[in-house]
Amino acid sequence: MQTSQPDALALRIKQLSVGYRHRSIVSQMTMPPLYSGQLTALIGPNGAGKSTLLRGIAGLHPASGHIELGGHDFSRQPQAERARQLVYVPQSLPAGSKLSAFEAILAAAMAGQKSVGLGLNRPASAQLDAVEQLLGLLNIDTIAHQRLATLSGGQRQLVGLAQALIRRPQVMLLDEPTSALDLYHQCQVIDAILSATREHGLISLMVVHDINLALRYADQVLVLHEGQLVAHGAPGDIITPDLLAQVYQVKGHIAQVNGRYLLDIEGRLSP
Ligand SMILES: Nc1ncnc2c1ncn2[C@@H]1O[C@H](COP(=O)(O)OP(=O)(O)OP(=O)(O)O)[C@@H](O)[C@H]1O
Ligand SMILES: [Mg+2]
Repeated sequence: MQTSQPDALALRIKQLSVGYRHRSIVSQMTMPPLYSGQLTALIGPNGAGKSTLLRGIAGLHPASGHIELGGHDFSRQPQAERARQLVYVPQSLPAGSKLSAFEAILAAAMAGQKSVGLGLNRPASAQLDAVEQLLGLLNIDTIAHQRLATLSGGQRQLVGLAQALIRRPQVMLLDEPTSALDLYHQCQVIDAILSATREHGLISLMVVHDINLALRYADQVLVLHEGQLVAHGAPGDIITPDLLAQVYQVKGHIAQVNGRYLLDIEGRLSP
């Protein structure tokens, strides 16, 4: 894990509060810095506030507190600038769109350019090539011309990731990007997220329920429980039997197999 990175771009979140009408979900949360080139996994039980937190950071839900990106107050940036710097991939993409997968990805690329006032300066052929490349990278070329409404949940999830990657943001917030995917596509999506994170120096924050994905791929893990950040650090250090018991009420062990950590669950503590 990369711990301190003086030259890396950092996303710093301090005293962030996000909630709904009469209900506070995340209150005064301060997170460790998230650095470019790092993949951070956000884990925690259902209802812990993970999606609410991501939407608050993305500015899609009213939030108070301090969000700083690269030394600048992110919340005070114009909306277009924020949209250029940060993309949020929701838990599920709306199914109602009339666009095909190809058109939806191309539209995301073009929206990114408009948001910084570039119009459509970039040659259309380069954008079309970029879409083709992503379709190939995520192995979804066969559904390129199918309408989103006719895709499976997993296929829509892959299109959502392609829409995010084509924008080349600085920060990528991903809400359960692998939840609807088969094993092959889970590996493919994690590979795509990791290579974009490393090669383009993205700051990537990804919600996952699969503890083994967090153990295997994340540089650091944040654990959210009842709206509180209860632990953070290197996955192998903080995902412990005690944490599994306290946060998930599950009895489990962390085994080491071929030098890798692997979760072994015995069962619920109070069935
Ligand atoms: N639109 C909403 N209005 C009011 N309360 C909401 C709304 N969306 C979520 N909540 C509540 O906020 C809390 C946190 O929800 P959130 O969706 O952030 O959890 P989560 O950690 O993402 O859960 P999951 O793992 O199931 O996706 C829950 O108690 C939920 O009922
Ligand atoms: Mg959620």
